[in-house]
Amino acid sequence: MITIKSEREIELMREAGMMVSRTHKYLKPFIKAGITTKELDKLAEEYIRSMGGVPTCKGYEGYPATLCTSVNDTVVHGIPNNYKLKNGDIITIDMVIGYKGYQGDAAWTYTVGEVDDDKKYLMEHTEKALYEGVKQVKPGNRIGDIANAVQTYAESHNLGVVRELCGHGIGQEMHEDPEVPNYGIKGVGTKLKEGMVICIEPMLTFGRRFVYQLEDGWTVKTQDGSPAAHYEHTILVTKDGCEILTPRVD
Ligand code: MF3
Ligand code: CO
Repeated sequence: MITIKSEREIELMREAGMMVSRTHKYLKPFIKAGITTKELDKLAEEYIRSMGGVPTCKGYEGYPATLCTSVNDTVVHGIPNNYKLKNGDIITIDMVIGYKGYQGDAAWTYTVGEVDDDKKYLMEHTEKALYEGVKQVKPGNRIGDIANAVQTYAESHNLGVVRELCGHGIGQEMHEDPEVPNYGIKGVGTKLKEGMVICIEPMLTFGRRFVYQLEDGWTVKTQDGSPAAHYEHTILVTKDGCEILTPRVD
């Protein structure tokens, strides 16, 4: 079911989104060689709880942590562990925070020290692909317009578009309808209406688009070992366009 949010609900989703933005900002200076992904997770959980937020991923379908920490060839849902970040890594931090029953969700990829040009290229164009999708968010446009804009941008920059995972609606639940794929056909799919809130989240690879899942039931990696990047925003459809509810505050 697709939900249309009231003014009151939108206000709570703005708060939840800002908590996500603030937590990303808080974590950034800790993302350095030597720290473990588990330590980042602990910092995030404490910070989120100190703001009165709830780390929604923790316990969701048995997921054990606050953050998803996806390093290099891990595309999404990397579980925080004792891996120590090293110079040259890239890491995607993805988190969902609940506030008074409403969710905010955003993922950004970070560099650890100096990274090679391929990784820089991948990150730059994955973020730009997200904004190509965001530009399509306005009443009357369709999910296919977003999907097609992301895919066209990504493929014209020779990046692989992971198809197994999608963006989604969001509200009281972290995953609501509609699905928001990163590939598709213009003019097709659900029509956007004022008051809908969706997450757009391109997951792009520097190599081929194929992925596999580890035995842990979560971690998704590229089959060819190429690095992946992932950027996600929570976005409200407004009267004549959209509002990003998880703006970058750094
Ligand atoms: N942002 C992720 C998503 O949209 C969060 C899911 S992590 C989970 O899929 F562990 F909670 F599933
Ligand atoms: Co999401």
